[in-house]
Amino acid sequence: MKICCLGAGYVGGPTMAMIAAKCPQIEVLVVDPNAKRIAAWNSEELPVYEPGLFEVVKTARGRNLFFSTDVEAAIKAADMIFVCVGTPTKTYGVGAGQAADLKYVELTARTIARVAEGHKIIVEKSTVPVRTAHAIQTILRANSRNGQFQVLSNPEFLAEGTAIADLQSPDRILIGGEPTPEGQQAAAALVDIYANWVPRDRILTTNLWSSELSKLVANAFLAQRISSINSISALCEATGADVDEVAHAIGRDSRIGPKFLKASVGFGGSCFQKDILNLTYLCKYFNLPEVAAYWESVVRMNDWQKSRFAKYIVNQLFNTVTGKQIAVLGFAFKKDTNDTRETAAISVCRDLLEEGATVVVYDPRVPAEQIRQDVLGDKTNPNLKIVNSALAACDNTHAIAVLTEWDEFKNIDFAAALEGMHKPAFIFDGRNVLPHKKLSDLGYRVYAVGKPVPPAA
Ligand code: NAD
Ligand code: UGA
Repeated sequence: MKICCLGAGYVGGPTMAMIAAKCPQIEVLVVDPNAKRIAAWNSEELPVYEPGLFEVVKTARGRNLFFSTDVEAAIKAADMIFVCVGTPTKTYGVGAGQAADLKYVELTARTIARVAEGHKIIVEKSTVPVRTAHAIQTILRANSRNGQFQVLSNPEFLAEGTAIADLQSPDRILIGGEPTPEGQQAAAALVDIYANWVPRDRILTTNLWSSELSKLVANAFLAQRISSINSISALCEATGADVDEVAHAIGRDSRIGPKFLKASVGFGGSCFQKDILNLTYLCKYFNLPEVAAYWESVVRMNDWQKSRFAKYIVNQLFNTVTGKQIAVLGFAFKKDTNDTRETAAISVCRDLLEEGATVVVYDPRVPAEQIRQDVLGDKTNPNLKIVNSALAACDNTHAIAVLTEWDEFKNIDFAAALEGMHKPAFIFDGRNVLPHKKLSDLGYRVYAVGKPVPPAA
């Protein structure tokens, strides 16, 4: 069997590498028009940083895992075609700012229709609005001369930073197909691939629309928990309660559970915001404004949390940061990834620069050019500096803001690191990962999300 995947990004690369590693009998070809990305997948320096990924790629690359820019040849040769292209929020036209932009998905459907011949199974892995499979089917059927297609929905639930563990041992695999015999046969073929390493009772099959909708709903529920605990973090700061203690106490209730209750500077990543906005748009489209408003508030709470954190820094630094230096430790949207899409660090850095601060950023995995592009776009600002170690960022700074929970920040010797710093030294822990008590004992004023505010100096 030959499969191909259109899109060699954060999902296409790792998921296909795992399939190839687990199924040596299947030839897996990952294609992408982005030649730089493909060259990186074929090199020792993969385009995606993900713990354990390189080992999985090395197991199969050159054996039954290949990366290429030849999209059409891959489509022609494959029995099963995964569509793993981006579905960002639309920035133009109808639904701008909310609806998913399906132009890449549509283009893949048109390319498949044009070049594919014979029976092909099309697997929609990108996150899409409900009923996108119907649009894909329509495009394929209207534009193909010699192809017969079955479209399946198989959303991906991996989280960045833990992608390999998530792919190796997923909570569930979800496959949606048409209720026809051909549709069920196609779904069974995909079930058989995953069953090479995933227990069958973890492979769920549903109808197409349930599968598509479940993906949006899973992300909405996860993000909702973060916005819920972040809303409570503000109340904790106002009342003297400690958000970690509250999260622990409520998480012990087995109906609530302990996961995804970590208060933070705000959730980031390419999907939570975009998928909730997509869900919101769908609700509006189906004339359900109350449902739309309910889910939209999850994103609004997150925006508030990000701007609240930057304002908090300014307030604590005597209402002005003009001319002050602030070290930002961590820029990626979470640890163990080099992905910066929608990271809270972007808005925090912008807000601080806007207030006149000099912002010195360090991230162990994100290249300086990426940080500059994310914060400034095509503009320049000499007040944004990027350095290559946490200690260099902390050198002679007025305040430190921790925005990503990289393990290396937990172990910094702050006593040594802060030698020679302007006093008083302020630390703003946007992730609640530093040893707060130890730092306070060293004489630093430590502010952390959802923690009691230290008494005035
Ligand atoms: P990405 O931007 O990293 O990768 C998408 C890739 O598709 C790009 O490299 C692009 O060049 C390529 N592409 C565009 N048009 C193409 C075409 N016609 N043929 C072949 N390749 C083409 O995006 P991603 O993070 O991998 O996300 C892909 C999808 O998976 C999105 O719908 C996203 O919502 C979903 N998803 C992402 C994650 C995640 O952790 N990033 C997790 C689950 C689901
Ligand atoms: C998320 C989901 O967890 C995946 O299941 C899903 O497949 C993926 O989105 C997607 O569709 O793209 P991801 O965004 O990679 O995965 O990472 P998460 O671990 O969910 O973290 C998202 C953001 O929430 C990060 O900024 C993280 O720091 C933040 N977060 C997470 C918190 O602030 N508190 C928490 O308790 C958990």
